[in-house]
This record gives sequence, C-alpha cells and structure tokens, in this order.
Amino acid sequence: MAKVLVATDKPFAAVAVNGIREVIEGAGMELALLEKYTEKAQLLDAVKDVDAIIIRSDIIDAEVLDAAKQLKIVVRAGAGYDNVDLEAATAHNVCVMNTPGQNSNAVAELVFGMLVFAVRNFYNGTSGTELKGKKLGILAYGNVGRNVARIAKGFGMDVYAYDAYTPVPAIEADGVTAVASTEELFKTCPVISLHIPATAETKGSINFELMNSMPKGAVVVNTARKEVMDEAGLKQMFEARPDFKYVSDIKPAIDAELKEAYPDRYFATPKKMGAQTSEANINAGIAAAEQIVGFLQNGNEKYRVN
Ligand code: 3PG
Repeated sequence: MAKVLVATDKPFAAVAVNGIREVIEGAGMELALLEKYTEKAQLLDAVKDVDAIIIRSDIIDAEVLDAAKQLKIVVRAGAGYDNVDLEAATAHNVCVMNTPGQNSNAVAELVFGMLVFAVRNFYNGTSGTELKGKKLGILAYGNVGRNVARIAKGFGMDVYAYDAYTPVPAIEADGVTAVASTEELFKTCPVISLHIPATAETKGSINFELMNSMPKGAVVVNTARKEVMDEAGLKQMFEARPDFKYVSDIKPAIDAELKEAYPDRYFATPKKMGAQTSEANINAGIAAAEQIVGFLQNGNEKYRVN
C-alpha cells in the first residue's frame, strides 16, 4: 500500500487534512501526518518509508531525499517551490509538483488587508489615506497578481503591472496597464505589490534605487518572498524617505531593528499568513492529494516542475 506523508511545519486547517485523508484513503493509500515538527530529525525519520510527501514551505533538500528511500513524488501545496532542491530531486528520480493558483485568492486578499492597515497608519488613530484613485503596481502578473488586480479595481485603484513572461495583451485584457519594466512600474506607482518568485535572478532585486524612484507616499507590500528584498536597501529607504512604508507577510532578517526604529511605517506578520485560510488549505491540500493519486496510479505529470 502506497504511503503518503503530510509534512507541515505550519499545519493545514483540520478540515483540509480531512479532505486530504478522504482523497488518499479513498484511493487505497495510507496517510501519515507530521505537523508542527521542530527538528529536522523528525522529518528525516518520518520520510523513511513514504512514497509521496505533501509539503508547504517545508524544506526538502538532498539530506531529506537521501533519507526517503521509497520516495517518488513531492507536492508543494502552494505556488513557490524554492524550498525544494529540484536538482537533488531529479537526481533521486523524484517528481516535484506545485499546485498553482490554489491559494492565490487568499494571498491577494491579505495584500489588501495589509495595504489598508498601512495607509491607515496601522490603526493608530491618526488620519491616513485611501486606496481609491491611487496607482497600484503589481510586480509579476501570475495567479496572485491577477487576483490582486481584480480586488484593486473594487477599491477604485488605477492598476499597472509588469511581468517579463506574460504577454501584454493578456494583462491589458484585464483592464490593467502593462508597463515595459520593473523600473517603470516603481517610477509610476506609489503603491507596489510584489509577486515575484525567489530565483537567482530576483533575489535582492528590490533595492534602494528602485524603491527610491517611487512617487511620494510610497508603500511596498510583500506577500512573495523575503529573499527578493535587498535588506540593506530597505533600511536605506526607511532612512532616506520618511514617507515610505513597508508591510510584509515574511519577516526580513532585520525585522526587530525595523520594528523598533519605524513602528509607524513597518509591519511584518509573525508567521507567513498569506495562504492561511481554510479555503486555501482545502484547495491546495486536496489538489496536492489528487495530483499524488494521479501520478502514482496513472503517471499523470501535470504541474511537474523538475
Ligand atoms: C506559496 O508559495 O504558495 C505561498 O507562499 C504560501 O506558502 P505556505 O503554504 O508556506 O503558507
């Protein structure tokens, strides 16, 4: 009987785990759970006899792959798979998939939760500003970016986007103005929402020069990855621009320093919350379970990323 492990440092909602169980057990497979683990050793032990693993931001590196002698597939229940060593997985003959789009509405809704919080001065009782009529720049127009654009229109924002891989007509079909570069997006928009993945190309790419080119009243919201920020540049931006605010769903390494120095201009969630809704957990978790069943039973490789 094939064994599927759900290994989630940050657990899914119970209702999503029930849904995953139904899919896995309904396909005649066994489900094992490793939630809220604190040591890598626990993960190394749990993977020993499993055929498949469902993860979130959990790290799957060569050591985990070495320990998982029977492993055939890892599904990242979510979008970004920078937490999986794809090269090592391929070398171990392990298929890696993600579940694109399944948690994107949840992340997009959080963008606006964080934006309203920021422009209303973190609810400190002073007079803030509104989002209506402001230019919003969406950096990367994928599943989350598209949902951000949809919601932004409800707020009456003027929406711009830059994406190196999405054709301009596809962006403009959504009533969004496509600009030609990241630089143009930052120069044009006082509000920027980041949706780029963490890759060799994007790491550290949001730097001081880029942020300092933003119009007055600059707000950057990051629900993507902390690695895309140049943290020295972020610090410099806080120092140089008293109008600048940064709200992030991922704590930078300099979180404590920023919190202390700029309590009215900086906020980060204690734990990544973007995909933490029952709906997103159900969507991504069940999609992951179904993809595992499809792969193990029928060799279906849709959404394979390695
Ligand atoms: C993703 O890449 O899907 C999001 O960043 C959510 O990550 P999480 O599942 O660890 O919350």
